[in-house]
Order: sequence, then structure tokens, then C-alpha cells
Amino acid sequence: MNEQAGSPGSSEPKIIPPAPLVGLAARLRQPFLDAGFDTDGVLQALGPDAHAALGRAEPVPVRRACADADELGTLIRLFLLADTCGADAVDAALGAVPLAQAVAAGLLERDGDGVRTRMDLRPVDTGHGTRWVFSDLDGSIRPTVVADDHVLGVGHASLSLVRASVPASGRVLDLGTGCGVQALHALGAGATHVTATDVTDRSLLLTRAGMAINAIAPERVDLRRGPWFEPVAGMRFDHVVANPPFVVGPPTVTHTYRDSGLDLDGASQMVVSSVAEHLVDGGTACLLASWVITGSDWRERVASWIPDHGVDAWVVQRDVADPALYVGTWLRDGGLDPRAGAGAAAAEEWLDHLARAAVEGIGFGFVYLRRTGEPSDVLAEEMSHAVDDPLGPEAAAYLDRVAWLRETDLFAARLGSSDSVALEEISAIAPEGGWEQVVCRLHRTDGPRWAHEVDGWGRALVAGLRRDGLPLADVVALLSAATGVDLDDDAVLALVSGLVRHGLLTPDS
Ligand SMILES: C[S@@+](CC[C@H](N)C(=O)[O-])C[C@H]1O[C@@H](n2cnc3c(N)ncnc32)[C@H](O)[C@@H]1O
Repeated sequence: MNEQAGSPGSSEPKIIPPAPLVGLAARLRQPFLDAGFDTDGVLQALGPDAHAALGRAEPVPVRRACADADELGTLIRLFLLADTCGADAVDAALGAVPLAQAVAAGLLERDGDGVRTRMDLRPVDTGHGTRWVFSDLDGSIRPTVVADDHVLGVGHASLSLVRASVPASGRVLDLGTGCGVQALHALGAGATHVTATDVTDRSLLLTRAGMAINAIAPERVDLRRGPWFEPVAGMRFDHVVANPPFVVGPPTVTHTYRDSGLDLDGASQMVVSSVAEHLVDGGTACLLASWVITGSDWRERVASWIPDHGVDAWVVQRDVADPALYVGTWLRDGGLDPRAGAGAAAAEEWLDHLARAAVEGIGFGFVYLRRTGEPSDVLAEEMSHAVDDPLGPEAAAYLDRVAWLRETDLFAARLGSSDSVALEEISAIAPEGGWEQVVCRLHRTDGPRWAHEVDGWGRALVAGLRRDGLPLADVVALLSAATGVDLDDDAVLALVSGLVRHGLLTPDS
């Protein structure tokens, strides 16, 4: 595994020798396998109720459930509860790895007669079996100070990006790797090689340890230190994934995992506007991002970040927070209580800054880009409803559909409804009595569950389309003749291309 140090992008990178933690991590793999300290093993040892309690950071049910679980119980208490455990029990759980080595490497520390962890180390399964991930303790179970270079663990945002990622292959860039979870996921999903970057040495150290404990061949990973795209200047990738420090606020850095030093949504703008330069033709990027919502349409703001040429982009807004909720949430996340003292002062300052910029809300979501040689196609839309199916495969399919639409004479195409399409009709009692239809919608009952309102003409058109039937132009002509209603071509194209984009209509091949 290569790791570059020195000034970002410097021509003579220094190769950093393996740190004690990395050597230790490689040796910990065997005792963890022997004890069954994996995602299935932990669930089995705890049972569903105590496992759920672990998710809620309630230690007592977990301690009770794993009291008789020998080495596995010790590892659960040591790393998942951050408990102080008996030195003998820890020694036994570490198998052939000497306890003194774990202490010397900074993973564990003596606490009275016992031993406790100094890091979060846990099994995670993002869909390709257990991977162990090192990160910093976050204080959720044992109080701790969140350091400036705190390495975030696998949290809600990390997992939402994992689920939303377009399946990775080839050479992948993980920008702002943190604990390395996106890099590990990409390697499990089929990436041949991952370049992972971060601005902190600590993040690169914990990612290296993560690669070692998961027995990832060193030649598959390249770790580089530096901001944004500087460490990969001139390089292109098949896939880029990034969960950048996109917190919207003043241009200051309190915690590197969330603050970029760029004003407001500058971090998201930086990544969204530059990433296409680092994609091969046909390469895709999947980014978590946020944007401020001011008087103008948020869609125009995000679309303005995307180059006019050479990119197909799909921007999906999943949520919006008002400034007060946003600031309170992030202050608590950084260990500050917004009710008084330093927390209240920080809240005042942060809210002032947002107010001066006329920020009414902060939008949050995913940005997908694919590099093309064509004029850019950008769709930004809201998806605030709950979606169970992972968004990644849908995003890949969306980008394929956009390419298909660009290359296709839609009127000559044979299209049909996908199997998951259902029609919803809502009627109300008419003033003169009897039922009167007030709305009619086509629904996709899978994936993002898009709904499109259609009128009687659109409804009849969709019913008349078949993949083994007539081209669209002929169905439109027949329908116009039958109804006496002539729709202009632009209206038909808008209706049909919208249904194709969202996967309600699919072509014959
Ligand atoms: C929100 S964390 C994401 C960690 C991890 N990728 C995940 O998905 O959980 C953002 C990471 O970006 C790093 N970072 C901060 N500023 C950066 C910059 N200017 N360029 C690259 N990475 C940066 C932080 O150190 C942190 O590890």
C-alpha cells in the first residue's frame, strides 16, 4: 500500500513506513476470526433485543447478553461498549497478539487493573461480508473529547452513501476517506484499485489499519494526503465517491470531518464542479452534498455548479433542514450544548452567518455525475419520501436512460410500461352528484417510487404503448384520430421522456 506524505501533489512523495497500529491490525484479524467477532457473530451472541440496545447506545442489556460469550463477549465489551475489561480476559481474546503490543500501538490503554480501548474498532457489513473499521471513539457510550482531527466512524451518512453508490468497478477515488469505509466498500463491490485521500494523517493511519486488518493487498490501495483533488492532480478514475466535509456554515474549521473552511456550501460546490475532470469518459461520481436554500430555486443553484458540457447529472434532494435545526444538530454532534455557554455563543454566531446570507434552509442529498462527450444534461429533483430500495443501481440506470434518450429518436422507439407501474385514480363526489375523477397518477411501485400525474390522454397513451407494438409516433397518431385531440410533439416528448427518465416506460431492448 502506498501512502504519500509531504506537501499535497509534491513531485517527490515520501513513503511512510508502516505504523505500529498497522502491523497490529494485520495480526488482529486472526483472533477476531477465531472469536467470531463479525457482524453475524455479534448479532447471534447478543440476540435481537440486546443488539437493538447496542444500536441505541444502551450498554446494560448488551453487557447482560454477552456475559457468557467468552472471547467474543470480551471483544464486544472492549470495542463496542468501550468498557474497561479484565486484563486476563483481554489477553485471552487477543489470542497470539500480545496485550502489550496493542497498548504500545495506541489501540488499548491500561485503566487501573483493567484495559480499555482508545479507538472504535467494529465489524461492519456493507453488503460484501464483515470488514473491520477503525475510527475514533465518538462519546456515544463512553464520554470522550472530540478532537479537531477526529476520524468519524461509520455513521448514518456513510451508510446512506454506501447504499446510494453506483456499483463501483475499475479504478476508484474515495475523496475524504475518513475511516476508509467507502474505500473498503468499493473494494468489496468490485473495484480493482482505490485511491483514498484525506487531509489528516490520523485518517490515513486508521484507513491503513483498516486495510491491513481486512487483508487488502497493498497494491490495490493508494493513500494520499491533501485537500480536495490536489493529491490526484492529473489523474482520472472510473468512479469517484465522496462524503466530503460539507457542513454549511462560516468559513472556519472546528472539526475536519465536517468543516471544509469554505463558506456556506462551498465544499459541495468545489467537489461537484471539479469532479468530472477526474473521471474517464463514461466514469461516474456519487457524492453526498448540501446546498443553501435562499430566495431562488435550489435546483438552479446546484445546476449552476455543473459544467455546461460533458456531464450527465442527477441531483436528488433527500431532505431540508431549517437553520435552527441544522445548527443545533451539528453543534451537538461536535460535543457542544447549544443551550448555554460556548454552545449558545457558537449557535448565535452560526445563525447570524446564515441569516446574513439569507439562508432559509439547507438541502441535503446525492449528486450523481457521468462524464460524456456531450452537452450536459442536468436534472435536479426532490425525493423526500421514504425509499427502501438502494438508490445506487437506480442512479446507474437513470444515467443509462439519459444516454439512451439522447441517442434515440423517441417517436421511432417502441416503448412499454415497466412491470412495476400501477395506475392510481382518485375521485370525489361531483357537485351534481356521482363520482368525478380529480387526479390520475402513474406510480412506479419499486425503486424510488416515482409518481407522475397524467391526464386522460396521457393515460390512454401509456395504455397503448407496448414494447412489441407500434412506434410511439404511430400510437400518438392513432390516439389523436380516436380522440380528436392533437397534442403537439413537444408536449408528447415532455410526457414520454419524463416517464422514460424515471423508468416508468422502458424501451424494447
Ligand atoms: C464526513 S467525513 C467522511 C468520511 C468517510 N468517507 C465516510 O463516508 O464516512 C469527511 C472526511 O473528509 C476529510 N476532509 C476534510 N477536509 C478535506 C479536504 N479539504 N479534502 C479532502 N478531505 C477532507 C475529513 O478529514 C474527513 O475524514
